[in-house]
Amino acid sequence: MASDQIVDQVQSLNDIVEVISAYVPLRRAGRSFKATCPFHQEKTPSFMVNPDKQIFHCFGCGVGGDVFSFLMKYERMTFPEALKRLAERVHVPVPEFKHSSPEERSQTERLYQVYSAANEFYRRNLKDLELGKPARAYLAKRSFGESEMDIFHLGFAIPEWSHLYEFLSKKGFGEQELLRSGLIVRSAQARTYDLFRGRVMFPIFNSQGKVIAFGGRVFGDETPKYLNSPETPIFRKRKELYALHLAKRAIPTTGEARRILIVEGYLDCIRLHANGFQNAVATLGTSLTPEHVQMLKRYADEATVIFDGDKAGEQASLRGLDLFLEEGMGVRVLCLPKGFDPDDMVRVKGKEAMAELIGQSQDFFDFKLQVLLGRYNKSDSLGLLKITSEFLDTFSKIKSPVLVDRYLRKLAVTLGVQENSLRSELNKLRAKLSGLKSARSEPRPLAAELRKAEPPLEKLLLGLVLHYPPYLRMFQEVFPEYSFSGEKTREIFNLCHQMIQEYGERELSPSKLLNRIKNEESKTFACRLLMIEWSSGTDREQAFQDVLRGLRGQERAGRLKTLRHQIVQAEEAGNQELVLKYMKTYQELLSKSDSH
Ligand code: UTP
Ligand code: MN
Repeated sequence: MASDQIVDQVQSLNDIVEVISAYVPLRRAGRSFKATCPFHQEKTPSFMVNPDKQIFHCFGCGVGGDVFSFLMKYERMTFPEALKRLAERVHVPVPEFKHSSPEERSQTERLYQVYSAANEFYRRNLKDLELGKPARAYLAKRSFGESEMDIFHLGFAIPEWSHLYEFLSKKGFGEQELLRSGLIVRSAQARTYDLFRGRVMFPIFNSQGKVIAFGGRVFGDETPKYLNSPETPIFRKRKELYALHLAKRAIPTTGEARRILIVEGYLDCIRLHANGFQNAVATLGTSLTPEHVQMLKRYADEATVIFDGDKAGEQASLRGLDLFLEEGMGVRVLCLPKGFDPDDMVRVKGKEAMAELIGQSQDFFDFKLQVLLGRYNKSDSLGLLKITSEFLDTFSKIKSPVLVDRYLRKLAVTLGVQENSLRSELNKLRAKLSGLKSARSEPRPLAAELRKAEPPLEKLLLGLVLHYPPYLRMFQEVFPEYSFSGEKTREIFNLCHQMIQEYGERELSPSKLLNRIKNEESKTFACRLLMIEWSSGTDREQAFQDVLRGLRGQERAGRLKTLRHQIVQAEEAGNQELVLKYMKTYQELLSKSDSH
């Protein structure tokens, strides 16, 4: 299949500036565009998009690549997904293409289809005047109306054994793929039946808005109250959040209010959306995971975690809160009054009351302190030790020194201890942790560390080659035997050489090159060089000549140094003949180089 051609075509039709500016507000800066980086937190923009080379790069965190890499990183897509999305954007048909096997590809595709068909089916049941009655009555009793049903695609699985199974079979889905979806199950007696029966259905969408799972609630108090469809290749519950596909659109992309609300229940989340809190998401019956936080960080700067009043589960929640700080995201906590969950709160006390409570949410520090003071006695020394060590543990993970400073001061005051002793404890802890970390990573001898520095002239030369590949040939004509001392420079230079052999000088595009670099560090390095701008062709040519002159100078200096060394050695050995010979070469070299 001519996939390379398709990739090139899709890429050339999708201008990187246009694509990225749909996600990130770009401002012009010379020939490039800049913005605050969507991949890490920063105040001053170091994220650059270069329209000439069709690449992006962040000077702050080092990410970079072409238009495909941007979507893959930003939307967490695989390459085929990004290709498909960009192809659709410019109306280019893409033949099925995937690095996993075509079979896997179609299985995943079929899963989406099963879930989408089931969703339509459940929705229709709910809307059906006869069939849907009990479920609509239940939702009405809980004061959920038409609009919530529509926005959240609520549905109904009627209390029968194979209603869905028959429907999907008729639609042409095979038994195997239905069993794989988990929506149809098979008993030990080999009887095949629907997983969900007699439940209100809550489809779970991925952040792209595709149905990937369901939660189903019984009308009464039977257990399990909620049943969730199982994990499948399209559903990993530690990675997904309920209503994120809606919340991500409600959160502004810039400005102050990039805040997300996190609740525990589907219905809590729906209630919040229905009352103007469209920035709410719900966890899917699990505690928060690092994956959740990493994903949320793309859309929001701060999270407010809302806990039900009657849930003590603070032990677990404290762990969850640390996650935010580790990922560099702000977090506040709201514990609702006893007996209330967000749904009750809004329904009984109104959305204004809820807004007020959210406004009064506690800073993570105050919340944690309150929990720990409830758990340990700060006036006995063991209790004090427990509290401090739990806090220092958290502080050691906070990246912002300003924040740590503030918290340390607060903690010292609250506990009535010296700020300095807390600080020195923290430093000890950090030293221990970083000791652990470096012990775990590969030992790197100093010499190797030094060798890692890339000589500036070599770097500049590589930068020039990346901009204008014919320089590679021109360079090799002057320095046929040159051996790069910069490791990364050498690696990428060799790669360029190889790719020019493959594609020709004219066809070596920045994005092709970046895609061939496997090592992230090298990729960042190449991106950085690709972002260099020369104001004109003559300017660039000037730089190239400067590099050649500089390298010649270095080469000469190296040879002179060697000669001096040889002269000294020959003198020590008493070999006058050799001394003279070296001297002569030395003189020649000195005079010749001046004329250059
Ligand atoms: P809650 O028990 O707090 O339910 O569970 P809720 O959201 O208030 O629901 P209602 O108001 O009684 O209808 C919170 C979340 O925990 C998961 C679900 O995701 C639910 O939304 N859960 C709860 C389950 O997965 N299974 C259960 O049996 C119960
Ligand atoms: Mn509830």
